[in-house]
This record gives sequence, structure tokens and C-alpha cells, in this order.
Amino acid sequence: MVTGAESGIGAACAKAFGGEGARVAVLYFADAAAAERTADAVRAAGGAAMTVQAHVDDEGSVDAAFAEVERIWGPADVLVNSAGLNMTGVPVRDMKLDQWRRLLDTDLTGAFLTSRRFLTGRGKASGAAAILHISSIHAYAVRAGGADYCAAKGGLSNLVETLAIEEAPRGIRVNAIEPGMILTPMNARAQSDAAYRATLEHNIPLGRAGDPSEVADLAVFLASEKARYITGARIVIDGGLSLMQALGA
Ligand SMILES: NC(=O)c1ccc[n+]([C@@H]2O[C@H](COP(=O)([O-])OP(=O)(O)OC[C@H]3O[C@@H](n4cnc5c(N)ncnc54)[C@H](O)[C@@H]3O)[C@@H](O)[C@H]2O)c1
Repeated sequence: MVTGAESGIGAACAKAFGGEGARVAVLYFADAAAAERTADAVRAAGGAAMTVQAHVDDEGSVDAAFAEVERIWGPADVLVNSAGLNMTGVPVRDMKLDQWRRLLDTDLTGAFLTSRRFLTGRGKASGAAAILHISSIHAYAVRAGGADYCAAKGGLSNLVETLAIEEAPRGIRVNAIEPGMILTPMNARAQSDAAYRATLEHNIPLGRAGDPSEVADLAVFLASEKARYITGARIVIDGGLSLMQALGA
């Protein structure tokens, strides 16, 4: 099951799991046509796909989406939670409570709701399973104007680590992926404005932004048997960007 799978990193993850021959539930927020395009990409890659609407910030919506997938395919073995909202650049002194809540509800409570429903859906199912949350380097590298986003992703780190120790006895691994700058609609300006993109890429040691497929490759690895001893980890994928924190020193 992949949330936010109609776009960006979620869509790339869905396609990559399709390439492994997986049955992929493409969970989407609002754009059903985009979700169908992801489902087509999954099938073209060799997997099976269904699309289901899921608002990760809404308990009833999450429950209904999981119930629909379980009705057809049974409990899922892998959850990739990629649904998320970006920071808006508004400093705390100007931030409306509604904005704070909307971000926290999506990026943090959404992770809680999808994880919990994934776990209860599995019930007593045995066998390896994996939860992956797409976090961010901003879980620890804060930015002015990003208090809501940084707090949500920082909280997500502790959620992932707590879940990892709670679920380890059942063989369920829980990890976070922390991307840096990835070229998705969340970074729309970097894709349409070459000068802006070059300014940002100047700070990335590998010299370029990442592609969503590179994050998806990591997700496939972390969900696989090859990552069987990795749990509670927060894995950075940023071309070295987060190492550049002492620029003014
Ligand atoms: N692109 C980057 O540079 C970058 C960097 C670090 C972390 N991330 C994280 O990666 C994840 C995916 O982002 P992306 O870059 O693919 O952006 P994106 O905007 O392409 O994808 C985000 C998806 O989340 C969905 N969404 C938003 N609110 C939702 C809700 N309430 N319920 C369900 N779905 C909802 C959107 O519809 C969209 O499909 C996010 O959690 C983001 O914070 C992205």
C-alpha cells in the first residue's frame, strides 16, 4: 500500500514495487486520474494495481481504504506512507493555527493513522512486514519558515523509532526515509526555473537534485528481505546536502 501514490515519490515507489511483481494499492488524495496513471505504470512494470482514495489525516477515510484493499487482496505486507504537505515558509509569529494543524494532521497524524491501520489489519498474520515513512532531512535540519513541517517530520522520527521497538517481536520492521531535494511537484519551481534550481543544487555535494526513482529504489530495498536486519532506522538520501550545515562557519 502506497499513500500519496498519485504523485512524486509515492508514484515512483508504486511503480518500483510493480517492477518487483507486487500487487500495489495506489492510495490517492483527490486526483483519481493521476492515480490511474500510477496504476497503469505499475501494471506496465509487471505488477498488479488498484486505486483507492485515502485522506491520511482522516481516520474514517484511512480505515475505509484499508478495508477495501483487505477485502480484495487481504492484509498488506508493506506500507509506504508518502502522503505529505510541504512547508509554506511562514514564520511561527505569522502562522495560523489552522495551517499548523493541517500540516501536523497530514505529515504526522497521517503516519500514525496509516501505521495503526496497517498493523490492526494484519491482526495475527505472520511473516515479515515493513512500514516505511517518507520523512525528510528537515526532521533534524530545521529551516526558518518550516516550523510546522520540521515539527511534523521530527515527530515522525520518534513515531518510527517507537513503532520499531513495539513491532519488532512480530517481525514487522519500521523505518524512515529522509530525502533531501527530490524533483517532484513539491519542488515545482526547481523544475520550471533553471536558475533557481542551479542555486539549490550548488549546495548539494553530488551536484544535482534527486530523482523520485532513486528514493523508490531505496524503498524497495528497505521493504525487502535484503534489509531484514534494518529497523528503527532513518536513512538519509540527499546527495550529501544535509552535511553542508556549517556553511557560514
Ligand atoms: N520532494 C522533495 O524534495 C521531498 C524532500 C523530503 C521529503 N519529501 C517528502 O516526500 C513525501 C512525498 O512528497 P513528494 O515530493 O512526492 O510531493 P508530492 O506533492 O508530489 O506528493 C505528495 C502527495 O501527498 C498527497 N497528499 C497531500 N495531503 C494528503 C492527505 N491529507 N491525504 C492523502 N494524501 C495527501 C498529495 O495529493 C500528493 O499526491 C512527502 O511526505 C514529503 O514531505 C519530499
